[in-house]
Amino acid sequence: MEKVLVTGGAGFIGSNFVHLLRRERPEWHVVVLDKLTYAGRPENLAAVANDAQYRFVQGDICDAAAVADAMQGCTLVFNFAAESHVDRSLMGDPAHAGAFVQTDVYGVYVLLEEAKRQNVKKFVQVSTDEVYGDVSQGHSVETDPLEPRSPYSASKAGGELIARSYFVSHDMPVVITRGSNTFGPYQYPEKLLPLFVSNALDDQDLPLYGDGLQRRDWLFVEDHGRGILAAGERGRAGEAYNIGGGNEKTNREVTEFLLQVLGKPASLIKPVGDRPGHDRRYALNCEKAKSNLDWQPLRTFEEAMTATVEWYRDHQDWWRAIKGGEEYQQYYQRNYGTRDKG
Ligand code: NAD
Ligand code: DAU
Repeated sequence: MEKVLVTGGAGFIGSNFVHLLRRERPEWHVVVLDKLTYAGRPENLAAVANDAQYRFVQGDICDAAAVADAMQGCTLVFNFAAESHVDRSLMGDPAHAGAFVQTDVYGVYVLLEEAKRQNVKKFVQVSTDEVYGDVSQGHSVETDPLEPRSPYSASKAGGELIARSYFVSHDMPVVITRGSNTFGPYQYPEKLLPLFVSNALDDQDLPLYGDGLQRRDWLFVEDHGRGILAAGERGRAGEAYNIGGGNEKTNREVTEFLLQVLGKPASLIKPVGDRPGHDRRYALNCEKAKSNLDWQPLRTFEEAMTATVEWYRDHQDWWRAIKGGEEYQQYYQRNYGTRDKG
C-alpha cells in the first residue's frame, strides 16, 4: 500500500491522474498539494473530495513547511505542479517568466530536499517534450541534448537537471517523464484544444498562430497518466522516459478536426501573428517507455479527440465559469488583443 503525493493535482493532468489512481490503485492514499493558481481548480477534484483515502493541502511547492506537511509519510512523489502555459512565459513583465523559474526550478529543489529527508521510494518529475527544443527531423530519444527555447521549456529543463543532480549526488530514486501535447477533460481554456472548442461553440474566431503548420504529437490525458504511473512503479532511478501519443498533426489539422466534430465552419479559423520563437515541431521516440515500462497509448487520436471535444460541449458550466472571470479576460485581451494578423 502506497501513500502518494501528487503536486499540482488540481490542474489538468494532475486531476486526471488523481482520478486514474482512485480507479486503478483504490487502496493507495493520495495527498494533493496545490497552490491553486489561476490554473488550479478545486472543482476538478470534487468527485474525490470526501474520499477517506484522500487529503487536499493548499500550499506552494516553494514553501518548505507546506511541502513537509504534505509529504509526511509519503512513499511516492509525482510532481505535476508547474506554470505550464508557453504564451504566459513569453508575456512582457518579469512577474510572468519569473513565476516559471520560481515554481518549475526552485519548487522542484524544495520538493527534492524534503523527499530526501523522507527517503521516498520514487520521485517522478513530470517534464515535457519541449525540453528537446525544435525537432525539424526524426524523433527525439532520451539521450538527445536538451535545447529548450522558451522561458517555459527552459524552466522545465532546469527542473529536470536539478532532479537528475539529486540522483547523481545523493543517489535519490528520481525518474523523469517527458510527455507530449496532452488533451482531455479539465484542461484550462488557454491551451489550443479547450480554447478553440469553447470559442467555436460560441461562434467566435479561433486564433491560429502563424501558418498553423506547426507539428505536435497529441496524447490523450489518460494515456499520459498511465505512462507517469508506470514510471513511478517501474521506472529506473536516474532515467528519463518519453511519453507520446504517436499522433503527429499540424495545428491546422487538429483545428479542422475539432470543427468537424462540432459541425462548425472552417471560416471560424482566424490566422493571427505567430508566437515568438515558436517551435515548429516536436516528435518523440517512445520505444524506451514501451519496452522498459510496459506502457503504450491505448486510445486512438480520432476516438479520444472526439470524446474530448464532446466533453467540452457537454460541460459548458466548467469552462464558462473560467472564461467569464476577470483573470481570464485580462489574459485573453493581453495575449490576443494586440496580436498582428497572420
Ligand atoms: P496546469 O497548468 O493545468 O496545472 C498546474 C497545476 O499546478 C495547477 O493546479 C496549479 O495550481 C499548480 N501549481 C502551480 N504552481 C504551483 C506551486 N508553486 N505550488 C503548488 N502548486 C502549483 O498544468 P498541466 O497542463 O496539468 O501540466 C501538469 C504538468 O505536466 C506540468 O509540469 C507540465 O509542465 C507537464 N506537461 C504538460 C503537458 C501538457 O500538454 N499540458 C505535456 C507534457 C508535460
Ligand atoms: O508539448 C508539451 C507541451 O504542450 C506542454 O509542456 C505544455 O505545458 C503545454 O501547454 C503544451 O504546450 P504548447 O505550447 O504546445 O500548447 P498550446 O495548447 O499552448 O499550443 C499548441 C499549439 O497550438 C502550439 O503550436 C501553439 C498553437 N496555438 C496555441 C494557442 C493557445 C495557436 O495556434 N493558437 C492559440 O491560441
